[in-house]
Amino acid sequence: MLTLLKLLKDGRFHSGQDLGVALGVSRSAVWKQLQHLEAELGLSIHKVRGRGYQLAAPLTLLDSADIKAQATVCDWPILILDSVDSTNAEALRAVERGQTAPFLVLAERQTAGRGRRGRKWASPFAENIYYSLVLRIEGGMRQLEGLSLVVGLAVMQTLRALGVSGAGLKWPNDVLVGQKKIAGVLLELVGDPADVCHVVLGVGINVNMQMTDEVDQQWTSMRLETGKVFDRNHLVAELGVMLRAYLNRHQQGGFSAIHAEWEHGHIWQGRAVSLIAGVNRIDGEVLGIDSRGALRLKVDGVEKVFSGGELSLRLRDDS
Ligand code: ATP
Ligand code: BTN
Repeated sequence: MLTLLKLLKDGRFHSGQDLGVALGVSRSAVWKQLQHLEAELGLSIHKVRGRGYQLAAPLTLLDSADIKAQATVCDWPILILDSVDSTNAEALRAVERGQTAPFLVLAERQTAGRGRRGRKWASPFAENIYYSLVLRIEGGMRQLEGLSLVVGLAVMQTLRALGVSGAGLKWPNDVLVGQKKIAGVLLELVGDPADVCHVVLGVGINVNMQMTDEVDQQWTSMRLETGKVFDRNHLVAELGVMLRAYLNRHQQGGFSAIHAEWEHGHIWQGRAVSLIAGVNRIDGEVLGIDSRGALRLKVDGVEKVFSGGELSLRLRDDS
């Protein structure tokens, strides 16, 4: 099916006859595959008698040679999948299979993209970026400290550099424009964090997505923010270069080297918020983060510090 898509991706008309010859199948088999493309991948295809078939909008697929040519400093191998349950899950399986890190897993779509705490990440075909970079960490809790915040910062800076000037951070690692979520980060770890472990830096960025009924909160995309269509290969390359620079700074100076910059990008500094921890809710004012990336809140006039993957921050209505 994707071979057919690759023939159509130039956005020109192709006759059923030519497509059949290229694929080595009958014209009616081409027709069936086209219907599959529309139903399975949500693509829209023009069918014009006498001219053939044309994708409603031209498509650029992910291409590792293109990415590498634009990001020569990123020397990690790239695995690109047409479809996968989750790039993070695939990255973890690759670690189990003994694949040497660093390496990068990308996919055109995810059928079970995951967010924090088992939530779903909407991952339509060829519209966004689903990115999982695997690193090997040796004997360094310090190397893990604040790591997810560092990744969020690198994502935010990449978006700003590409023209999404309103991108900002929400603790711990969401990237928002105003109140709308444009990217999310999910770190997953295997091995012993105090000895040798592998960490998967999972990043989802809404790139060219214009609509979805799968997201139950406010969201946006690079395209919706700027009115431009983005080349995802270029974005992957830019993100790789940015991540590499921030990961190097983090490795050398720890999270404290990045702390001030992170706070500068935090759009909820000084705001009145509720921190949700399961069924508990703590109201306070955001003071910032500490040198390890934990959240500092003023609660009833007293500073308190919070960390952990189960916490969610919400703006208070009165803020
Ligand atoms: P937090 O719990 O940190 O306050 P959150 O409510 O965004 O943040 P997360 O677990 O971080 O929750 O992210 C998962 C949520 O993100 C999903 O429940 C869904 O509402 C939303 N979501 C899913 N897919 C997308 C997407 N492609 N773009 C934006 N938001 C999405
Ligand atoms: C969140 O905000 O909850 C985190 C969302 C992370 C989504 C990315 S998409 C690539 C990688 N693979 C996944 O299944 N999840 C992350």
